[in-house]
Amino acid sequence: MVHMTEIEAALARVIDPELGADIVDLGMVKNVQIDGGTVTVKIALTIAACPLRNQIENEVVRKLKAVPGVIDVEIEIGAMTQAERTALMERARLRAREQAEPTMVHPNTRVVAVSSGKGGVGKSSLSANLALAIAGQGHRVGLLDADIWGFSIPRILGLGGERLEAGAEGKIIPAESHGLQVVSTGLLLDDEDTALMWRGLMLSKALEQFLRDVAWPQDLDYLLLDMPPGTGDVQMALARLLPQAEMVVVTTPQLAAQKVAARVADMARRSHMPVIGVIENMSGFTAPDGRHYPLFGSGGGNALAEDLGVELLGAVPIDPRVAEGGDAGSPVVVVEPDSAAAVAIATAAKALTSLLPPIADDGCSARLTLVAEQLAKMG
Ligand SMILES: Nc1ncnc2c1ncn2[C@@H]1O[C@H](COP(=O)(O)OP(=O)(O)OP(=O)(O)O)[C@@H](O)[C@H]1O
Ligand SMILES: [Mg+2]
Repeated sequence: MVHMTEIEAALARVIDPELGADIVDLGMVKNVQIDGGTVTVKIALTIAACPLRNQIENEVVRKLKAVPGVIDVEIEIGAMTQAERTALMERARLRAREQAEPTMVHPNTRVVAVSSGKGGVGKSSLSANLALAIAGQGHRVGLLDADIWGFSIPRILGLGGERLEAGAEGKIIPAESHGLQVVSTGLLLDDEDTALMWRGLMLSKALEQFLRDVAWPQDLDYLLLDMPPGTGDVQMALARLLPQAEMVVVTTPQLAAQKVAARVADMARRSHMPVIGVIENMSGFTAPDGRHYPLFGSGGGNALAEDLGVELLGAVPIDPRVAEGGDAGSPVVVVEPDSAAAVAIATAAKALTSLLPPIADDGCSARLTLVAEQLAKMG
C-alpha cells in the first residue's frame, strides 16, 4: 500500500540543483498517480530541453523507489508555461531570501553520508579514503566527521595537532588535509569553554552547528559525512538540514546480516534518505603467498545491495596498511595507492561519482538563479 503523503514527502526531497529548492515547492510537480506499486509523476521543467533533465528524473526515481511499496516509477516530462516560469522565479526569489540561514552547504554540493547498520565496519576509514580518492579524480571534496564524540577523522588524516580557526562573521574555517576540507569535533576541543559548550549540545544540534557555522566552500562538489554508529538521530537531522543527502552503506561480508539490512532500510525510510550503494569492507585477506582467506565470511555486500535494490560499489579487502595508515595519519590511498585496498577504494569512488556526478553549474536555470539571487540581495 503506497501512501500519497509519503510520495509527496519523497518528492519534496528532490532538489532542483540549480534553483536550490525542492521541485514541489517550485511547482514543478504537476500530477501524481498511484496505481498499486506504480507511481506516475508528471513534471514540468523550466524548459523541456533542460540539460539537467536526466539528473532530475533520476533523482525522482531514486527517491520514490525508497518509499515502501513502490515498485515502478513512471515519469512524464513537460515544460512550464511562461506564467508558470514567472511564478517559479518568484518562489525562487523568496526562497533565496529565506535561504541565507539554514546551512552553509551549497545546494549544488553532493552530500553523501557514509553509514552502516552496525559499528566498527570501517565507516571512518572508508569515508576518509573515499573522500581522498574522489578528490584524486579532480573534484573538490569536504569531509565532515559527524561522529561527534567518537571522532576519528583527525587521526586518520594526520591532523593531530591542528585546530579549526574562526574566519569572517565568526564562521569556522575547515582544516585542509591532502586537499580535503575537513571538520571534526576533534579539531575543536582545545579550550575548556568550547568543550563544555559542545558537550551540552545534543548530537543533532552539533551536526546542525557544523552545517551552519562552518564556512564550507561554495564550490565543493562533494561533502562526505562519516556517520556515527548506532541510532538514526544524526541521520534524521542530516535529512532535515540537507534534503539532498544520500547514503552509502558500509557492511562486512558476513552473510548473517539480515537484521543489519532491515535496520539500514528502516533508517533510510524514516529519513527519506535514499541509499545509493553498498560498499563491502574487510572482504577477505590475501596472504603474501597469494592464498585468500575470507576471514569475515563472504557475500554480505552483495546480499545487502540486493536487499536494498542498489549497486555494490566495491569490495575492499582486509589490508593491515588500512589500519596502520589510519593510526599514523597516512591514508592508504595516498601512501600506498597501488595496494589492493587502495585500488578497491578508488574503484568504489569511481562508481560513486558516476552514479552521482558533480552537479554542473551551468544549465537551464542557472541564469534564473543568478537573477533570483540578485533580486534577493536587493530585498
Ligand atoms: N579494509 C580494512 N583492512 C584492515 N583494517 C581495516 C579495514 N577497514 C577498517 N579497518 C580497521 O578496522 C577498525 C574499525 O574501522 P573504522 O574505525 O573505520 O570503523 P567505523 O565503522 O568507523 O567504526 P565506528 O562504528 O566505531 O565509528 C579500525 O582499526 C580500522 O583501521
Ligand atoms: Mg567511525
